Amino acid sequence: MKGIVFTEFLELVEDKFGLEMVDRIISSSELASDGVYTAVGTYSFSEMLQLLQHLSENTGISIDNLLLVYAEHFFSVIEKSYPGLLATYKDPIEMISSIENHIHVEVRKIYPDAELPTFEVIEKTDDHLVMDYTSSRAMHHFGLGLMNKTFEHFNSTATIELEKIKEDGTKVRFVINKN
Ligand code: HEM
Repeated sequence: MKGIVFTEFLELVEDKFGLEMVDRIISSSELASDGVYTAVGTYSFSEMLQLLQHLSENTGISIDNLLLVYAEHFFSVIEKSYPGLLATYKDPIEMISSIENHIHVEVRKIYPDAELPTFEVIEKTDDHLVMDYTSSRAMHHFGLGLMNKTFEHFNSTATIELEKIKEDGTKVRFVINKN
């Protein structure tokens, strides 16, 4: 997992819960990195999982809800860092259905070692999209947060439902209806 995902995460934790919480979740995790991340480095996903687990235990907020809020923050990082990529799109359904064939393809050119999910488009119309998410990381709520913000970015809203295809969340169907 890319360092930028860690550095932005810890900044958000500091913002919302304070530096003490950052120290607490780092010191209660077993981290090969010792909790020192650079934006361009690459670190084990198990480090992110431990940080999320300890934050969840300390705040009583579920990992899914933490990932949702974190993704909503991460979207603003994307808006700042990759404005050109977003400017390619005029419509949220077009953008979300292009993650697999365009957006994450570009991301992989920038970060060849990025760990990205797979999105398969099942149904698509102008205002409706069904897409299956597959990833060993089960970060579907990170995807949900990015999708919410994608609609907001285009001054639009949608109802997005998740159906777990695999109980452990490694395969999830997103049913998206533009309002
Ligand atoms: C992961 C970039 C749009 C879904 C990532 C990562 C980056 C990235 C850098 C981390 C990879 C790693 O740490 O190894 C971008 C950029 C986007 C974009 C630049 C737009 C211009 C989206 C959108 C979605 C999405 C709209 C919504 C569905 C995900 C998910 C992950 C991810 C779910 C977590 C990894 C996983 O589940 O396996 N993306 N992304 N991305 N992205 Fe995107």
